[in-house]
Amino acid sequence: MFEHFPRYPGDPIFSLVDRFRQDPRPEKVNLSIGLYYDDAGNVPKLESVRIAEQALQAETQACIYQPMAGAANYRQAVQEVLFGAAHPKVTAKHIATAQTIGGSGALKLGSDLLKQYFPESQVWVSDPSWDNHAAIFSGSGFTVNRYPYFDAASSGVNFAGMTACLEQLPARSIVLFHPCCHNPTGVDLTPAQWDDVVRICVARELIPFCDIAYQGLGQGMEEDAYAMRAMADAGLSFFVSNSFSKTFSLYGERCGALSIVCKDAEEADRVLGQMEFTVRRSYSSPPTHGGQIVARVLLNPQLNAMWRAEVGAMRARILQMRQALQDQILILRPDAQVGFITAQRGMFSYSGFFATHAQALRDRFGIYLLDSGRICITGLTTGNVRRVAQAVVEVMA
Ligand code: LMR
Repeated sequence: MFEHFPRYPGDPIFSLVDRFRQDPRPEKVNLSIGLYYDDAGNVPKLESVRIAEQALQAETQACIYQPMAGAANYRQAVQEVLFGAAHPKVTAKHIATAQTIGGSGALKLGSDLLKQYFPESQVWVSDPSWDNHAAIFSGSGFTVNRYPYFDAASSGVNFAGMTACLEQLPARSIVLFHPCCHNPTGVDLTPAQWDDVVRICVARELIPFCDIAYQGLGQGMEEDAYAMRAMADAGLSFFVSNSFSKTFSLYGERCGALSIVCKDAEEADRVLGQMEFTVRRSYSSPPTHGGQIVARVLLNPQLNAMWRAEVGAMRARILQMRQALQDQILILRPDAQVGFITAQRGMFSYSGFFATHAQALRDRFGIYLLDSGRICITGLTTGNVRRVAQAVVEVMA
């Protein structure tokens, strides 16, 4: 019956994690999947999360179905983190938010909705982008195209190429943006560049789709939200998928949301209804537990402040590790062109150099990075960064 099902070659990121687990070398280093590790190499349990979880456990009740759009307190908390509690689009209820199964679930819900109501549109993602972006949108039936983004010569943004492409897109093209901590490149736009992009989106009547999974790990919680807030201020109608996996260290709880910024409250109410209908036909309603932990933390002022400090400490460690890797390489090889490591932001660093040597680093040294040349900076620790730098310099030779 199922002879015609082809074998799935596997996901490039999850497959690499499996290979890492099977590697018997004790000195191996995992710089593959986007997980935040602490300096001891462990995925941390946040203190704010621990306190919220304990409070929830103390009042355990039967676990009934959530509404299709998820918990109201979680949805409110999501809007406040993304846009700020006092943003006029939040207070005027112009934003429709549904709790989703992680950020991927938000992308899928958004792409299915867009395919239903904009069937003629095409999707544009950055070149490169997280592999699953193209997979999710093409899975919904869209043609997925790429706009120029990464400039290999500078390991920075090809902003002229990007804007030239956006300038000629037909109205209602769907354009996926990474508001901060671009995955895989770690290369972000400046606020002034975002202002230009927003102007183009307004002029060309594009539909921006912002995917934000690392808010707070780039420049700061508010700074990382610049693009979305600028779009909202400009009156754009757009989608935002967000994930709390990394910033709450709650990966398996699948805490995400889809927010659709609408022109007014009446439209937001209709749009929310369509989100609910799409959810009902797909998985009916989201799970309870993780979202309630997140809502507890975000809506309690003390826990919220504690969480922001914990995310701030993650951000500081990422910057330290970027600096340490760059410094260690330069000590061994002063002429190495590695300034991009500290110029890029978020969990990832990316370059053609790493792509060329990914296999050698894996085979010879047990250092796992994606073949695309993406390294996950958070896999570095004070204990392994020197060894990684030595390996990088050896493959340069
Ligand atoms: C990554 O890019 O490594 C993470 O977002 C994990 C994933 O699901 O791919």
